Formats: sequence, C-alpha cells, structure tokens
Amino acid sequence: MPRYDYVSMGFYTFDCLGWPFTEVPPGGGTVFIDELTIAVSGAAGVAAIAAAKMGLNTLALTGLGEDLMGDWVMQRLKHFGVDTWGVQRQPGWKTSSSIVTTRADGSRPALHMKGATGNFFVDDAMIPRATDTKVFHAGGIGLMDAMDKGQTAVVMKAAKAAGAITTVDIFAGSPKDLPAVAQVLPYTDYFMPSIEEAQALCGRSDHGDTAKFFLDMGVKACVLTLGGDGAYYHDNAGVKFRIPAFDIKVKCTCGCGDAFDAGYAVALVQGFDPETAVRFAQATSALNATGLGSQAGVKDFEHTLNFMKTTKAK
Ligand SMILES: Nc1ncnc2c1ncn2[C@@H]1O[C@H](COP(=O)(O)OP(=O)(O)OP(=O)(O)O)[C@@H](O)[C@H]1O
Ligand SMILES: [Mg+2]
Repeated sequence: MPRYDYVSMGFYTFDCLGWPFTEVPPGGGTVFIDELTIAVSGAAGVAAIAAAKMGLNTLALTGLGEDLMGDWVMQRLKHFGVDTWGVQRQPGWKTSSSIVTTRADGSRPALHMKGATGNFFVDDAMIPRATDTKVFHAGGIGLMDAMDKGQTAVVMKAAKAAGAITTVDIFAGSPKDLPAVAQVLPYTDYFMPSIEEAQALCGRSDHGDTAKFFLDMGVKACVLTLGGDGAYYHDNAGVKFRIPAFDIKVKCTCGCGDAFDAGYAVALVQGFDPETAVRFAQATSALNATGLGSQAGVKDFEHTLNFMKTTKAK
C-alpha cells in the first residue's frame, strides 16, 4: 500500500478576502464591507486541505516564506492533518499571497505576490517519498519557476513509475506558458485546467478540439472546468460528456477549480466512474463557492456525497 492517498505539489498561497467588493475608494478613503477572512488557497493548497477534510491521507509539497503568512499556512495544514514533511520554509522569500476582492456576484479580482512557490524544489532524494501515493497532483504549473524548468516532469514520471494516478492543474494565460505545461503531459492521467486556460494555451475554441490538442500531447483524459457551465470530460478512449454545474447561491468562486482537483482525487481514491467523479468534483467546487475563502464550505466526504446526491444541477 502506498504511504499516502494524495500528494499535492505546487502552488500554496495565503489569501485575504473581502466581500462584497464594490470599488477602490478615491484617495485614502475607506469602503465598509460585510465580511473579511483569510484562507489557504492555490491549486495545490486548496486541493491538499479539501482532500484532507474529505479523508485523504495527504502530503503537502511546496515552499513557504519565513514570514507570518507562512506560519499561518503551516498551522492550517497541520490543523487539517496534512503531512508537512514536504513543505520547505525558504529564508529570504515571502509566502505566495493574494488580496482577493470578491464582488457580490462571486467573481474575484486578485492582487497576487508570487513568492516562495517560485523557488521550492523537490530534489531527486525527495522523490521516493514524494511519489509514494495513490494520487499525485501537480497544481499551479506555470507558477513553479524552479520546478517548471524540467523537474516537475521528472517527479511526475517517477510518480507514474511508482504506480500513482497523476492529475495536473495549471496557471496559464497564453501560448508562451505551453512549454512548462507540455513537459508533464506525457505523465498526466487527468489534465484539469479551466477552459479559459486550456484555450489560451492551444488557441482553439471548441471544447472537443481543445481536449484533443492535449490528448495528442499525451494526457489520458482532459477534465476542463467551465465555471458556472460545469465541466467537460474527454478521454483518449473517446469517452466525452459535459455535466452542468450545481445550482447554488454563489458567495465566492475563489478556489473552485482547486477544490475540483481535490474532489476528483477523492473520487479516484474511491474508484468512482468518470461521470460520478466529475459530479463529485463539482460538488466539492460548489460547496467551496458557498463560502468566502477557499474550501470554506467543504466539510467531509459524507457531506459532499450527500450534497451531490441531493442538489439540483443547473
Ligand atoms: N457560478 C458557479 N455556479 C456553480 N458552480 C460553479 C460556479 N463557478 C464555478 N463553479 C464550479 O466550480 C468548478 C470549477 O470552476 P472554474 O471553471 O471557475 O475553475 P477555475 O477557473 O480553474 O478556478 P480557480 O481560479 O479556482 O482555479 C466548475 O466546474 C463548477 O462546477
Ligand atoms: Mg484553476
């Protein structure tokens, strides 16, 4: 049996979120808001905590600064029982952090400081323990400057060789981000970007054509998230379907894609079929969106399963 259920490598951030954001006041003015919170976020950070909440024995692999934000992220990871063996505190670096201004409709412009995500490095000596898992997730490819030069692919290849199922999420905005992503695709079972990111990378617009671009580059399956329109699954055996999102009252969509990654990992460990996996992942995202701050609404496995079974889709 592998040592871990889930290893989540990559982008972990400290977020400070305010709701509802209306405007930046002129000069040095103040606008009053109803809610303010802090959260661990990021394509790997949300995934680690949401997966741990739903019962996966999880290892975090990332870098944090030697600062108050890093102390707090570390405390939260430990609080949820995430193994922090793979968390590197980096002298001279700040923890990756965002100020998130969430509007009443749930959309959330952010100010982001890149920080230590760009500097952590999983060296060859760490690989055996770092890949001893049922599911290995690389979240935030495009932001891991030191790892993105080739080592992410080395780690993913080792994870595949060790028998793990691999999942990938990205941070990408244009075709110039493709080289960092392309290197890991041959070792990727489930490629899970948002449709906007996938389209920005490949320049295609149709969902099927977009998926085929990445299938041709070596992934086993594309699971493209479509925001409020749900998710599109397309694998190399020709299975393809779209599943609508859950009909919910959205508070903040921050971390929805990252929560999707966690839900999908739980579904893989549970052995769910692809349609149930996509529904379960979307249930995790929907619960995430009901609260301010990533993964706020995610409680545990049974709660997510029950939500999936009892909530109407759009
Ligand atoms: N407005 C919404 N209503 C219902 N569900 C939503 C909404 N927005 C997002 N979701 C759910 O969250 C999932 C992932 O969302 P999305 O495609 O926005 O991810 P993302 O853009 O990658 O987000 P992130 O910035 O967290 O990475 C969707 O597949 C959907 O199930
Ligand atoms: Mg995303």
